Amino acid sequence: MKIQREFSQNAKAYNQVNVIQKRVLEELIVRIDEKPAHILDIGCGRGGVYQAIDWELSHFVGMDFAQGMIALHPKGKNITLLMKDFNEESSFETLSNYRFDRIISSSALQWAKDLDATLGNIARLGAPVSLSVFTSNTFKTLYETAGLPPLLRSREEVIALLQKYFDADIELLQYTLAFPSVREMFRYMKKSGVGAGRNVLGYKEMKRLIESYPLDHLEYEIVLIHERTGSKRPEKSTML
Ligand SMILES: C[S@@+](CC[C@H](N)C(=O)[O-])C[C@H]1O[C@@H](n2cnc3c(N)ncnc32)[C@H](O)[C@@H]1O
Repeated sequence: MKIQREFSQNAKAYNQVNVIQKRVLEELIVRIDEKPAHILDIGCGRGGVYQAIDWELSHFVGMDFAQGMIALHPKGKNITLLMKDFNEESSFETLSNYRFDRIISSSALQWAKDLDATLGNIARLGAPVSLSVFTSNTFKTLYETAGLPPLLRSREEVIALLQKYFDADIELLQYTLAFPSVREMFRYMKKSGVGAGRNVLGYKEMKRLIESYPLDHLEYEIVLIHERTGSKRPEKSTML
């Protein structure tokens, strides 16, 4: 609920602050060469994926649980927007009524409560996937400096779960984003939606963190999976 509220509240600012997410989704889209006409975008936000697609679509289904994001997504005759939660089984029952040529999800699935279950539900929709998932190496030094445990799943866990359900090459994207000052870095982070729901530090601890953060940049790590059409999935991915 907290994450949902944070994404909704930050929806307006999101476009100016999602530098890394934009790069990530470009990396996803550039690998899709079969021009799929029926697309599902899970965690569609305000339409980054839709806007990056440069081929003709018959039908685009965007799903996101943040009303503020859905409100800002492009609308159109061939666009269906569903305000639904990918943690809920019932959302996938709705999605199973549609036909998809490809399922895309960029920079969203790291927020899955149970990534194993959500990936299983995605796999059962039956279309090839292009997914990007942030790992715990995102903001690694920041969390270490603050003495906080990592917020996200480790690279190894994300990769193992993706390999459980999909047959595809897995790539690792690593980025750094530099800032003129640590204070500006924190301002950016608050709006970027990657630290969603985590305001755990008090004023004093925050001040100490800002003073002792040893880098002039933030670190990001993303696992990317692009499944080719017709790839043969591991057997257990089709089991219920
Ligand atoms: C970092 S944004 C990425 C948006 C878009 N995919 C992009 O790359 O520009 C993550 C999106 O995932 C959505 N999201 C997070 N958890 C979700 C959930 N459980 N169900 C549906 N959407 C979710 C958020 O509301 C947000 O719009």
